[in-house]
Amino acid sequence: MAKTPTRNISSFRSLCKVFFISVLSFMSAFYWCQYSRPCYSHYQIEKEENNQPINLLTFPSAWNHLTFSSNPPPKLLKIALFVKKWPHRSHAGGLERHALTLHYALAKRGHETHIFTASASKSSLPVVPDRNLYFHLSNASAAGYLDQVSIWKQFQTENSTGRPFDVVHTESVALRHRLSRYVKNLAVSWHGIEYETIHSDILREIFRTPEEEPAKPLSERAMRVAEEVKFFPSYAHHVATSDHAGDILKRIYMIPEERVHIILNGVDEAVFKHEVSKGEEFRRKLDIPDSKSLVLGMAGRLVRDKGYPLMFEALTQMFKENATFRETSVVLVAGDGPWAARYRNLGGNVRVLGPLDQTQLKMFYNAIDIFVNPTLRAQGLDHTLLEATLSGKPLMATRLASITGSVIVGTKIGYTFSPTVTSLKGALYRAWIDGREVWEQKGHAALQRGLMLFTANKMASAYERLFLCISNNIYCQHQTPFNSNGIKF
Ligand SMILES: *[C@@H]1O[C@H](CO)[C@@H](O)[C@H](O)[C@H]1NC(C)=O
Ligand SMILES: *[C@@H]1O[C@H](CO)[C@@H](O)[C@H](O)[C@H]1NC(C)=O
Ligand SMILES: *[C@@H]1O[C@H](CO)[C@@H](O)[C@H](O)[C@H]1NC(C)=O
Repeated sequence: MAKTPTRNISSFRSLCKVFFISVLSFMSAFYWCQYSRPCYSHYQIEKEENNQPINLLTFPSAWNHLTFSSNPPPKLLKIALFVKKWPHRSHAGGLERHALTLHYALAKRGHETHIFTASASKSSLPVVPDRNLYFHLSNASAAGYLDQVSIWKQFQTENSTGRPFDVVHTESVALRHRLSRYVKNLAVSWHGIEYETIHSDILREIFRTPEEEPAKPLSERAMRVAEEVKFFPSYAHHVATSDHAGDILKRIYMIPEERVHIILNGVDEAVFKHEVSKGEEFRRKLDIPDSKSLVLGMAGRLVRDKGYPLMFEALTQMFKENATFRETSVVLVAGDGPWAARYRNLGGNVRVLGPLDQTQLKMFYNAIDIFVNPTLRAQGLDHTLLEATLSGKPLMATRLASITGSVIVGTKIGYTFSPTVTSLKGALYRAWIDGREVWEQKGHAALQRGLMLFTANKMASAYERLFLCISNNIYCQHQTPFNSNGIKF
């Protein structure tokens, strides 16, 4: 009995001690975190404190978050590129645009690229300044693919000149898996895989009118995913062009993580940039009155998959139900396609501009307040979103995993909506009410992030590192990991 109080006192003391220590350590951790430096993600702290170089091949996030030296590359590479078509410089979209932007940038850094492609028109072949690009043309097969026998022969001939290729790059299945499996130093870039298409199928079915063909049965789509899961391992290294696609390749396609690398697309920062005067000039040219306080912009082929019917319905309803919105807004549509006529019939609030070349497109992006992309295609990642970002504009786009995972990563950058008329209208009204100050803040945030992640230079530097690493393992370590300040967006 006599001992009990003493024990109580001593246990009270130790409790106090524990309490004080925890308060102290909590406060110091708080202080350390708040004032001494920004709080990084767990991964960053770990890597930074060890001051260990990271192994690029297992780096889990997009390589665009890393900084790369602007010094000349440690080694000039001889690269083979397989791409179905080589496009004209100023009229290219999607995969071909990616190939063009990337390989022009690599050639400029001194690498020698041999392009195996189906006969391109004379006008699209570059002239003198691109002396590091060599074209090996062939005729497409009856099914419209690269003729595998011809390109393989051309490749072997060039590979056995005494200077073999350091690395092989194929845009999608331009080099088929029956041949790719013989090449160890190879990377394939995917711009949309079957699994992503399931989401597009679902949307297509929801928006189908009774006269339209039903979407592919989902069972058929699942079979095609299974096919891809089986043949994808025949490619040594995979480049996912969105964070979401990277996740699918690892999780659903079960490709080992050291063979899946996320490199987000970049667009030419010398063309697409924030230039207020260009925007003003374009608005003047189009005679947009000052009473129009909101200029929305859309770009791309005016087809159903790009969500043009959805936007059409939303605008029709909004112009009808809200006179103020109708009087104060205007929509610029860059592009052409089956929906152009219907958009023209929406009246003076909508200006269909037809297809624009790069110089005009750059002015267009600068002239608008918000870029809207209501796409229903879940596969790949639209370049237009990146172009608008580098032009310093807030984005509004469909809530698709590739978009919310890599581009509109939060409300700081822009607006997202579910692909329904109600949700899109909600987003448009919200943006309209937000007003200029908010648009400019979001546009600025988008631009800062875009300059870090989405420039052609960043994309080319990331691919260069990947190609160096694939060609020789000594280049797979990376020392100065993160974008300036270590802040990860
Ligand atoms: C492509 O086919 C045409 C005619 O069929 C032929 O004249 C030409 O030489 C072929 N080009 C190549 C690169 O094989
Ligand atoms: C290219 O040539 C090198 C050197 O002869 C050889 O080791 C390599 O296997 C060749 N690549 C292919 C895909 O045939
Ligand atoms: C238009 O919408 C705004 C914002 O929701 C609202 O304040 C205004 O009253 C509406 N005007 C008309 C004419 O419906």
